[in-house]
Amino acid sequence: MCGIVAYIGEKQAYPILIKGLKRLEYRGYDSSGVALIAKGVIHLYKKQGKVIELENLASSQNTLGTVGIGHTRWATHGLPNDVNAHPHYSGSENLAIIHNGIIENYASLKEGLKLRGHLFKSETDTEVLIHLIEDIQQNTHVDLTEAVRMALNKVVGAYAIVIIDKNNPDTLIAAKKSSPLVIGIGENNEFYVASDATPIIEYTRNVVYLEDEQIAILTKGKEIELKNIKNQHITPYIQELEMQLEAIEKGGYEHFMLKEIYEQPVSIRNSMRGRIDLNKGIVSLGGIRDYEQKIINAERIIIVACGTSWHAGLVGEYLLEDLTRIPVEVEYASEFRYRNPIIRESDVVIAISQSGETADTLAAIKLAKEKGATIIGICNVVGSTISRETHAGSYTHAGPEIGVASTKAFTSQVTVLSLLALSIAHKKGTISESKFRSLLIELNSIPEKVEQLLASDIQVKHISSIFKDATNFLYLGRGYNFPVALEGALKLKEISYIHAEGYPAAEMKHGPIALIDSNMPVVVIATKKGNYEKVVSNIEEVKARNGKIIAIVTKGDVDVKAIADYVIEIPEVEDLFSPLLTSIPLQLLSYHIAVMRGCNVDQPRNLAKSVTVE
Ligand code: G6P
Repeated sequence: MCGIVAYIGEKQAYPILIKGLKRLEYRGYDSSGVALIAKGVIHLYKKQGKVIELENLASSQNTLGTVGIGHTRWATHGLPNDVNAHPHYSGSENLAIIHNGIIENYASLKEGLKLRGHLFKSETDTEVLIHLIEDIQQNTHVDLTEAVRMALNKVVGAYAIVIIDKNNPDTLIAAKKSSPLVIGIGENNEFYVASDATPIIEYTRNVVYLEDEQIAILTKGKEIELKNIKNQHITPYIQELEMQLEAIEKGGYEHFMLKEIYEQPVSIRNSMRGRIDLNKGIVSLGGIRDYEQKIINAERIIIVACGTSWHAGLVGEYLLEDLTRIPVEVEYASEFRYRNPIIRESDVVIAISQSGETADTLAAIKLAKEKGATIIGICNVVGSTISRETHAGSYTHAGPEIGVASTKAFTSQVTVLSLLALSIAHKKGTISESKFRSLLIELNSIPEKVEQLLASDIQVKHISSIFKDATNFLYLGRGYNFPVALEGALKLKEISYIHAEGYPAAEMKHGPIALIDSNMPVVVIATKKGNYEKVVSNIEEVKARNGKIIAIVTKGDVDVKAIADYVIEIPEVEDLFSPLLTSIPLQLLSYHIAVMRGCNVDQPRNLAKSVTVE
């Protein structure tokens, strides 16, 4: 959470910072701010609300300067208001800082600083950090880099920071631990710093991903200098970015979420690209080849993830157990890490994360790694922290996902899990060659089927207009489509603020049935090959209580059509791959309802896309 961006070079910094902040707004959007140095003076502007509010504020101000820092906030310590917005000044106002993360021991540091006469304006942990740095600088007479290094040795928690100093306007100091930070190296050693690469790609493709506890000294016109907080010199590893600029723009769609829903035929195809050879009957996930035998021999697979990625993990459990016969457990990363879990060296832990930065997922894999388990990552963001912390992994290659509500990342995660399950099952001999080949053909045909089902969007929009004012929704599914019911409910909650719950269809009678009346829309996934008759009975139970049924059915369905109020058809598909199709009308349903209710679809209230705090 929180997006940070900084620039130092020959260009004007302000437009670069504002453009960067807009790209990073998905990380938090309750306030934003910039600080620029011009003629030895720091100009600092910050404002509650979206980046546009900051722009309005700054439009009549001096925004000149070739060095600057910018921040978009997702509040952790202190209300989202103008005062708590970043950047924060040091006591003398010579320094200004932006920060993403949490300084856990800020309260005790603050007490000590107060005793030494420091006065604080905000409630943030960040202001404490910059005061601490200045305090060290003043008391020990070291330079700023050394003061930052000494301060970071006193800090417990997570940080990605960038600091400017009005007395040294040619240098930016950046550092990170647990929160991500990438540095772009442009022409003549100008530098861009950001939480992810999206603010950087149009300026340079040469980047350095900072590692934990590293400090970068970025001086205009000089080579990048890296050290760690133990004061050891580090040689920078410069990588080339592969991201395309078009991928992070809306391309004519009203919202990123809609664009990303419609991208799914392509994103699912990209998740499979080069990994399936239909002629030879081979699936290969290059990134995990060296660890395949470990997975085949695993006594148990543990999947850790959060949010939508956790739902993909549940689909993965069904797939992996079904095809490979290896026992699978799916854990919320936050619960796993704090409950003294049993982890053995023979376990394989799969971490699923779109961003590759989720703090709980990262901590869960670090714990599992310490205990000797093999860690496999399924991440979307190339070069992300989780992808670097794992022993091996497969990228989903869905392309940048900007909408805060995850859509194409989910189907890509399920695609990679399908490939993994097929590949392991084939090598382990737990499915027959003919079944393997027919499933491969089926998986390969999914992108065309997604393309076909997107044509039903008009109908989904119509259904959305009927139910847009509902206050509650129930989502039901069985087997492979139980996680899809959970995901459908989460999508609706996230972006339309309608209360929604997902349930295994058969569990309805153990509680939720009490809620059903003529005002309750019930979305039921009732595809032909998935416990169809049982689901039909569950639909009858809802109908008997006057609930309104919106059913996701297989093309040509007769029985459900006869009893449901509304149906959305999907192409025929093998049950195990059905989540790749059934999840899509549910994404569209929540999208249209949210738009009709006037909600901010791409940036829902209180949420952030990349959750880098616990
Ligand atoms: C946040 C996002 C969700 C996402 C979850 C896990 O809550 O809003 O869309 O599913 O984090 O994120 P990850 O990047 O680890 O998949």
